[in-house]
Amino acid sequence: MSAAAQVTMDPEIVHTMIEHLRENTTDLAPHDIQVPVDHFVNPARAAAEIALFKRLPLLVAYHSDLPEPGDFITKTVLGLPLLITRQDDGSVRTYLNMCSHRGGRVETQARGNRRVLSCRYHGWSFEANGGGLRTIPYQKSFDPIDKARHGLQSYQTEERHGLVFVDFSNDGGRRLAEYLGPQVEAQLAPWQIESSVVVLEKHFTLDVNWKLLVDGAIDVLHPQFLHPGGVGDLIETNIGVDRRYGRHAQHFGARTKLRTLVQEGRAQELGTRYIASNLVLYPNSMLIMAPEHLECWTVWPDADPNRASVEIRFLVRREILTPEVERRVHKSWEILEHAATQEDWPMEVWIQQNCRARPSGTFRYGRSEVTAQHLHRQLARDLDGIEL
Ligand code: FES
Ligand SMILES: [Fe+2]
Repeated sequence: MSAAAQVTMDPEIVHTMIEHLRENTTDLAPHDIQVPVDHFVNPARAAAEIALFKRLPLLVAYHSDLPEPGDFITKTVLGLPLLITRQDDGSVRTYLNMCSHRGGRVETQARGNRRVLSCRYHGWSFEANGGGLRTIPYQKSFDPIDKARHGLQSYQTEERHGLVFVDFSNDGGRRLAEYLGPQVEAQLAPWQIESSVVVLEKHFTLDVNWKLLVDGAIDVLHPQFLHPGGVGDLIETNIGVDRRYGRHAQHFGARTKLRTLVQEGRAQELGTRYIASNLVLYPNSMLIMAPEHLECWTVWPDADPNRASVEIRFLVRREILTPEVERRVHKSWEILEHAATQEDWPMEVWIQQNCRARPSGTFRYGRSEVTAQHLHRQLARDLDGIEL
């Protein structure tokens, strides 16, 4: 058995996928749903979505970004400058990267390892472990300052299965395990993300609404049309198996090779190698599971509804990482890069321009777009209190 096959897949998924390929069927939602075009361009909607994001645990880092105590990364998320650090006890803390003196950016590097964080404006320093205020240069020229009350502001942060989530609501009552739920955890555990290596990392800022980027990555109806001769030849269009896990969901799609194996009667044993899945962690992250690597997307909205950014990383479990696997992962990035930058994103930019030109009416999500429907239904529940 190859190392790749150690990541198991529910035999029911393989069975259903094979049935769909035989019958030319796919999983279906009960009915179409419609989403107002306005939701892609309206600044008030964007503000409401960002307010919702700030009430949910959000994926901000991977274990391998900060494996050792003192390791840190800085990044700006939803307009908030963050300093994410590994603590001495192995936990992760997220600070607002803002000095308690007069607002300087405390850490200016993108990543590194420090015990002490010093603001370069007037030299106030903070403990990387705990975030407490440590020293104040020229302290005698200030009134007495209660150091205990002038540490770095922090946000609730939790790591599970090598994924680091920040919760801006600082809702101490909600644990991450509860938010993800047992089904999502069961999907994540075999990937050993905590011992995976980031083989490739890319960032893009695009003139599209964040929801178009997520929709594009889970769209089951478009490969053969938008990606002929490329991704469209590699993966089946409009054939999929979908699972819902509370707010989250997972879409399983078949590679076209599986159709050949079905015809040859070899699909059941080899199925998992030719089924890829996309685990959508509500609201803005996607973990696309291929046999040898995990492709992680996190999409960030902007206060301007016409803009969004996306972080893409390819992770490989350390135990199976060989130069040959790394070469294949880079090859798969080249295929994705072409599809995304030459085909998906230009179409999404056109859609965004069209939405601005005519922000009335609705967009339709058909019955086979089960995972896209699930996302938009959940957004409607959370933002409008309605069932689509
Ligand atoms: S703003 Fe940071 S030390 Fe003054
Ligand atoms: Fe696409």
